[in-house]
Amino acid sequence: MVTKKSFYITTPIYYVNDAPHIGHAYTTLACDTMARYKRLNDYDVKFLTGTDEHGQKVDKAAAAAGMDPKAFVDKVSQTFVHLAKEMAVINDDFIRTTEPRHIKAAQHLWNELIKRGEIYLGGYAGWYAVRDEAFYVESDLIDGKAPTGAPVEWVTEPSYFFKLSAWQDKLLEFYEQNPDFIQPESRRNEVISFVKGGLLDLSVSRTSFKWGVPVPNDPDHVMYVWLDALTNYITALGYPDTNSDDYQKFWPESVHVVGKDILRFHAVYWPAFMMAAGLTPPKKIYAHGWWTVDGVKMSKSLGNAINPIELIDTFGLDAVRYFLLREVSFGQDGDFSRQAMINRYNSDLANAYGNLVQRVLSFIYKQCEGKVPEHGELTVSDQALLTEAEALPPLLEKDMDHFAFHKYAEHIWQVIFKANQYVDDQKPWGLKVTDPARMQTILYILAETIRKIAFMTQPILPIASAQILDQLAVKNRDLEAFSEALKPGTLLPEPKGVFPRWQEAK
Ligand code: MSP
Repeated sequence: MVTKKSFYITTPIYYVNDAPHIGHAYTTLACDTMARYKRLNDYDVKFLTGTDEHGQKVDKAAAAAGMDPKAFVDKVSQTFVHLAKEMAVINDDFIRTTEPRHIKAAQHLWNELIKRGEIYLGGYAGWYAVRDEAFYVESDLIDGKAPTGAPVEWVTEPSYFFKLSAWQDKLLEFYEQNPDFIQPESRRNEVISFVKGGLLDLSVSRTSFKWGVPVPNDPDHVMYVWLDALTNYITALGYPDTNSDDYQKFWPESVHVVGKDILRFHAVYWPAFMMAAGLTPPKKIYAHGWWTVDGVKMSKSLGNAINPIELIDTFGLDAVRYFLLREVSFGQDGDFSRQAMINRYNSDLANAYGNLVQRVLSFIYKQCEGKVPEHGELTVSDQALLTEAEALPPLLEKDMDHFAFHKYAEHIWQVIFKANQYVDDQKPWGLKVTDPARMQTILYILAETIRKIAFMTQPILPIASAQILDQLAVKNRDLEAFSEALKPGTLLPEPKGVFPRWQEAK
């Protein structure tokens, strides 16, 4: 039996202090697209997302809502479950850090660190930013605020510390031996210089509030929310049982996709915690950029956060997925504006892809008795278009290896543009009377090209790709069937337009 290659991809777990916006939707969509792509390539995939439900930030949000924290997190975490459904995300698990399986895993990790002498009891006196759930030293502050702009408060309390300072050299060695651990490269360099700058021991427990995983054997303390939260990635694989099938199969192939703001937690603290507990760190951390709206940072106070569900209701899911993944190169910051969304939709989806599919399939339906056309001998131009489409899988594999979703789309759209050009050059409509056989050949080439394109757009545009493949009567949609050409004579259903042109209401 051939064993499948495995792939484990995770989103950060989202704080349940507030409703989701497009920034959250973005990470989840990128992971879903990658997971769909790997499934298409016959990988055994596990895709994890979930919610981060402990800590002071969530505790304060619950208090502000006048709710008991547990009732509050039960309610808000559902908005993230709902968002994943609305985005047609195929996640294999949804983890909540208030679940017993997770509390057990986090406490087990804590005990391991204690057992190995990696945690000691001390006292913390320093700055803390609840919004970032992060500790800062005086020299980090800019105008009395955290470097992120978050307000800080002075905290003095008994605290357990993780001996992070002892892991500086081992972390640097780890980055050296695993050059692909942090992606993209520019982020890797940032992390390395941060670690080279020296690491302080990290406070890993709090005593001034109760909403957290209780520290084993010391009920006055709750675990620092990041130590609790990071553990989610292995809880979902069955930790503390590292011999479980899932742990064995998926952990060596783990990829954490995170926003650039939380890279340090993932690329410094997390591998240090894991190595200190005698575990192997994840395989890869990919940090993406941030979205602004009309050039401005999204924030509660400005009330400018874009609700992804409203966006989907307006433009459709595929359009939102396409825009977010195509508009900026993954890793860079991007700006959302309604006009940019409409422009992208009309130029790439309606005018290019939608138009190609619509004009070709409706013509075939009317002029070829609703069947896949017959083809005669192929000309150089016929062969050239087919070759372009055939070349997509290896090209796109490289793009996905680099998380280059925008390039993935760009490469497909180059073929779409060429196919539209081919229609304009070959003018099949004019051949109906003069050369019907040639008309059929041209239409066959186009149907085949559309089939190949639709195979490859599945990870980004799941709904439209399925509709197009339905309209071509294609059954097996895994990449192994990419080379199974359409059979002339196959009956086709009546086509329906996939991306009608967007027009602003007057
Ligand atoms: N709970 C932590 C993660 C713990 S993972 C063990 C957290 N949660 S968060 O809800 O604040 O952020 C989750 C993700 O959303 C982060 O990757 C963050 O970068 C991303 N985004 C939040 N706002 C964003 C934008 N404006 N643009 C793009 N992504 C952004 O951090």
